[in-house]
Amino acid sequence: MPHTLAAVATPWWKGAVVYQIYPRSFCDTDGDGVGDLEGVRRHLDHLSRLGVDAVWFSPFFPSPMADFGYDVSDYCDIDPLFGTLDDFRRLLDDAHERGIRVLLDWVPNHTSDRHPWFVESRSSRDNPKRDWYVWRDEPSNHWQASFGGDAWTYDARTEQWYLHSFLPEQPDLDWRNPDVVAAMHETLRFWLDMGVDGFRIDVVHGLAKDPDMPDGAEEHRGLLADFVTMDADEVHPLLRDLRRLADSYPGDRMLVGEVYILDTRRVAPYYGNGDELHLAFNFRPLHARWDARAWRRQIEIAGEAFDPIDAWPVWVLSNHDVPRHRTRYGGSESRARVAAVLLLTLRGTAFLYAGEELGLEDAKVPKRRVVDPGGRDGCRAPIPWDASGTHGWGVTDAWLPWPPDPRHRNVERLAVDEHSILHLYRRLLVARAASDALRLGSLKCVDAPDGVVAYERRSGADRRRVVLNFETSPAKLDPGRGWVVDVATDGEGEGDAFSGLLAGDTGVVLRPV
Ligand code: NOJ
Repeated sequence: MPHTLAAVATPWWKGAVVYQIYPRSFCDTDGDGVGDLEGVRRHLDHLSRLGVDAVWFSPFFPSPMADFGYDVSDYCDIDPLFGTLDDFRRLLDDAHERGIRVLLDWVPNHTSDRHPWFVESRSSRDNPKRDWYVWRDEPSNHWQASFGGDAWTYDARTEQWYLHSFLPEQPDLDWRNPDVVAAMHETLRFWLDMGVDGFRIDVVHGLAKDPDMPDGAEEHRGLLADFVTMDADEVHPLLRDLRRLADSYPGDRMLVGEVYILDTRRVAPYYGNGDELHLAFNFRPLHARWDARAWRRQIEIAGEAFDPIDAWPVWVLSNHDVPRHRTRYGGSESRARVAAVLLLTLRGTAFLYAGEELGLEDAKVPKRRVVDPGGRDGCRAPIPWDASGTHGWGVTDAWLPWPPDPRHRNVERLAVDEHSILHLYRRLLVARAASDALRLGSLKCVDAPDGVVAYERRSGADRRRVVLNFETSPAKLDPGRGWVVDVATDGEGEGDAFSGLLAGDTGVVLRPV
C-alpha cells in the first residue's frame, strides 16, 4: 500500500483532552486529609463521564515533600501517603479498562536532597556519584533559585557548593554525565514496562545547562537560574534520546514537556523534526490577559510557530502552579465558561486541571495555613465531591482549605444540574469527539467585532465555527448562512440557527446546518 497520509494512524494524543490530577487534592480515602490513589480510582467514573482521553498525575513518588512531590527521593515507587505500587497497578488497569490513558510526572532536572544518589554524592568529594550533581569550589555565578535565595548552597562537610535551580532540597542533576542519563532512562523504563502511556516532563528545558554557567549579560545578574541557564542547545540531543526510548515501546507512548519559556517561538524547537518531544506546553497564552485582541494574537503566534514545522500545539489555562483561570480572569463563572470553549476548541491538545470542570475558584488560604514555598496553595485546594461536611473526603478539614462554596459547588450537585458548568464541559467534549474539525482540523481566525474572537476549524468537509465574546456587553455579528448552535456556554439555543447575537461573557460553537 502506498504510504499516504490517510494510512498513517493519528496518535491518540493528537487532539486529546488530558486531565491533570494533583494527587494530594483529588480525594482522600484513608482519613489523613491528603488525597490518595484509591481516591482517584473511586472517582474514575467522573472522568469517564467527562470524556477525557488521559490523566496526568502530578508526582506521587516517595518524597520529603519540600516541594510537595517535585522533590523525588525514589523514582520507582509510590509515597506511602498515596498508597502502594499495587494500588497504582489497580488504578492503571481500571483507567485503561475505561479507555483512559495514564501519564506520570517525571522530574529529571533535580532530585530530592534525600535521594540516595545525592546522599552519596554529598558524602565525599571522591564518591563515585559526586559528579552526578553540579558541585563547584565557588558559586560560578549569581543565579537565584526559583523560590528565592541563591541557586548555590554550601556543603560544609565537603567544602563545596551545589547547584539547585529550585529549593536547596532540590539539587540539580548533571545531565552531562552519561551515568545520570542511563540511570534516569531506567526510571522511565520502569513505568513504561508497567504500561503507563507517557510522561509530563518537569522543567525539561533545564536538563542541559550552559557548561560555562555564565552570569550572562549584566542585566541577567541575580536573575532566576532557570531564565539564565535553561534552554541551552545541549538539551536537544538529550530529548532525541528520550524520544527514541519512548518510541521504542508499542502503543504511542507520549512525552509532553514543561517548557517554561514564555516565548512561543522558542518553545517550537522542542518538537525537533518530529524527533524530540511529542508535545510541549506553551505557557505564554496562559499569561495573556482576558482580552479578545490579546488572545487572537496568541492564537496567531501559535499558528505561525507550530504549523510550519508540523508541531502539534498544547493549550492549558490552569495547573497546580498558577491561580486558577476563573480567579485570574476576575471570578465570574460565565467568563470561565467562555474560557472552557476557547480551551477545548483551539487547534491542539487540551489540558484541563482537575476542578476547572466545576468552575472552581482558588481557595482563600489564610497565612497560617500556607504550606507551599511558592505560595501556590490556593489552586491546590481539595476537590469537593459532595455537599456533606467532609465533601466526600475522610475528614472535614483537609490539608488545605476548601475552595469557595463547596456546599453548592461540588461534583455530586453539579452532576444533577444540566445547566451547570460541568455539563458544559461534558457537551464540549462530546462535540469535540464528534468532529474531526474540532479535534484535528486547521484553524483560521475570522473577522469579528471588537471584543470578540472568532475562528473556523476545518478538516476535509467537516467544519466548525467558534465565536467568543470576551466582553461583558453584548455583541452583534453577521450570523453568516447555515450555522446552527452546537454548544452554547449558557445552553441557550443549542440546535437552533445562530442569530448572530451574543450576550456578554458568552460563546458558541457552531456547526453547518
Ligand atoms: C515545575 C512544577 O510544575 C512545579 O510545581 C515545581 O515546583 C517545579 N517545576 C520544580 O520541580
